Amino acid sequence: MTKPLLFTLNGHARVVEALCREAGMEEGSFELRHFPDGESYVRVLADVADRDTVILCGLDRPDGRFLPLWFLASALREAGARSVGLVAPYLAYMRQDKRFHEGEGVTSRYFAGLLSVQFDWLATVDPHLHRYHSLGEIYSIPSRVVHAAPLLSSHLADRNDIFLVGPDEESEQWVSGLGEEAGVPWVTARKQRHGDRDVVISLPDLSAVHGRHAVLVDDVISSGATMERTLEALAGEAVRVSACLCVHGLFVDGADRRLLAAGAGELVSANTISHDSNDIDVGPLLAAAVVDLVGA
Ligand code: R5P
Repeated sequence: MTKPLLFTLNGHARVVEALCREAGMEEGSFELRHFPDGESYVRVLADVADRDTVILCGLDRPDGRFLPLWFLASALREAGARSVGLVAPYLAYMRQDKRFHEGEGVTSRYFAGLLSVQFDWLATVDPHLHRYHSLGEIYSIPSRVVHAAPLLSSHLADRNDIFLVGPDEESEQWVSGLGEEAGVPWVTARKQRHGDRDVVISLPDLSAVHGRHAVLVDDVISSGATMERTLEALAGEAVRVSACLCVHGLFVDGADRRLLAAGAGELVSANTISHDSNDIDVGPLLAAAVVDLVGA
């Protein structure tokens, strides 16, 4: 069987390495550039006729990335690719999962509809599943979700002086799993969101974890407001913080610097979005998912 061809739209060198090494892929050549007026030009250079193809594209900051992705997938199909799969280490538009106010668009569903039209399958890492239980509720193509959150436990090894803090009820799934695996206590706070960067965090009673250092855990850090308010609340209780762990570190507008200045200790994230805090490699997990999907 010929090797599937991999087309990478942005970064992710370690994921590319893992996909080639562990999923037996070869890199395919293509050209993507912008005309002076900003429109995208795409040209497939590799011979893709009757080949399985995969596009690797991080979908953080998705609006500018979506059209080139769409054009490349279309060009691959027109050049005769047998299949076009998508590896999106970070899957955008998962958080608007209901109409919170009259007239709002449920963009998670719209985005899923678009990707489902264009791709044969999707592999991603810990998508933000809160009100949806699985991607199958909104994606009509086969999908595989791999879990990087359990790998964050490597940062908890041999730490019996800590407790984990999830900043909201949605984080309970991550924080409880890690806490049980690492054998350390965990709590979840309550979050009220009043705006994109305006959240209020209320901590539960911390007397059972008195004297321990806190490690904050969430799936996504975006504006950083959730973590910053949690750090402030912990400081108000005189709790020392040793690290903030997340799977997807978007760190919008210098949120990483603000968190470090606010006493986050260490920042740790998975390499679903390139950042200095990347310390968890999702490449091997994604390679296994691709093998499964291409072979299906
Ligand atoms: C939300 O529901 C997620 O789990 C995160 O808590 C949220 O995305 C963090 O956003 P921000 O960093 O903007 O507060």
